[in-house]
Amino acid sequence: MNTDQIVRTFLEYYEERGHRRIPGSTLLPPPGDPVLFTTSGMHQLTPYLEGRPHPLGRRLVDVQRCLRTTDLDEVGDTTHLTVFEMLGTWSLGDYEGPSSLDWGYGLLTEGFGIDPGLLHATVFAGDGHTGEDRSSLELWQGLGVPVELTVEDNWWSNGPTGPCGPDSEIFLWTGDTPPESTPTRDERWVEVWNHVMMRHRRLPDGSLVPLPRHTVDTGLGVERLASLLRGRTSVFDCDVFDPWRRLLPSLWRLDEESLRLVCDHLRSAVVVIGDGVRPAGTGRGHVLRRLLRRVLTVLRRDDPRRGLGDLPDELVRHTLDHFRQDVDPGLLRRVLLEEEHRFDRLLDRGRHVLARPRFRGPLSEDDLHLLHDTYGLPRDLVLELRRR
Ligand code: SER
Repeated sequence: MNTDQIVRTFLEYYEERGHRRIPGSTLLPPPGDPVLFTTSGMHQLTPYLEGRPHPLGRRLVDVQRCLRTTDLDEVGDTTHLTVFEMLGTWSLGDYEGPSSLDWGYGLLTEGFGIDPGLLHATVFAGDGHTGEDRSSLELWQGLGVPVELTVEDNWWSNGPTGPCGPDSEIFLWTGDTPPESTPTRDERWVEVWNHVMMRHRRLPDGSLVPLPRHTVDTGLGVERLASLLRGRTSVFDCDVFDPWRRLLPSLWRLDEESLRLVCDHLRSAVVVIGDGVRPAGTGRGHVLRRLLRRVLTVLRRDDPRRGLGDLPDELVRHTLDHFRQDVDPGLLRRVLLEEEHRFDRLLDRGRHVLARPRFRGPLSEDDLHLLHDTYGLPRDLVLELRRR
């Protein structure tokens, strides 16, 4: 099954079970949300998780593009993506966690054909404030799925404040041997789906208050499942990366890890620009700037003539079409090139400043602050220039 078929199967399965489809939002969360980017499907639903009635009812389903910056330094490995899509379901005061898990199990095993013997679940063990999630535990035991109990790994929140609660995660075995060990002890168990029993709200003083009604919020990463269903463990082996992996290696010779980083960051940058963000020194624009500068740094390590202008149109269009973004590819290209020129000017200035006698020896923290505050040279860039 490719990603389109996975999305269709998922949406239809939940529509058959009384869920109404809501349109996914952009990567920009609603005002007042504590995070810079939409990191999961629940952002646009926060007011409804907190009690407001939703115009489409109490059972919802969608596919949502997400961006996670917490994992930015991990990108290049086989499991992390900056921009990805998440399938989500919500029960807004309707059914409880066990029904959600039971349907999830049914979809994975019957809808997607996963061998039930390759599944493992984790469940919240309880802490000083909130008790063990007994109903999820009993559901899994009834289905014969092994369960591991954890504390921190089975608590989900959307940042320091807001809706949160215990969750139950479903893992799939990816090893060559029969399944062994547990998800926290063996990384061949890969997480595919998270079901959050969103029962609390965290206040700014850190305390928890109960939400007015029990809600369930689930999220399943599309690219990861698509790769796993292809029998692959790298998210870069899912079909959305096929054109990238076909076109980029003939353009730029890169080792596998650099290729993954360049594919991820360029594709993410296209989506972020498509959602209206422009490179800047702070906030969302800064994340975009970091993505592009990292790509340029990697590309030019081997050949200083490489640049963003080489990016094939087909990849820009493929990405904009996939995310249904109505943006002129020419405009997008101009944003990329302007940022590249800005970076080139900064590099020139950086080389010039670092050649001064004061900065020739080892750099102290004070030097790095001075270079940043007075000369506008970010720490990463200074360290990169010193490495060359
Ligand atoms: N909000 C939860 C997550 O992001 C479930 O969607 O994992």
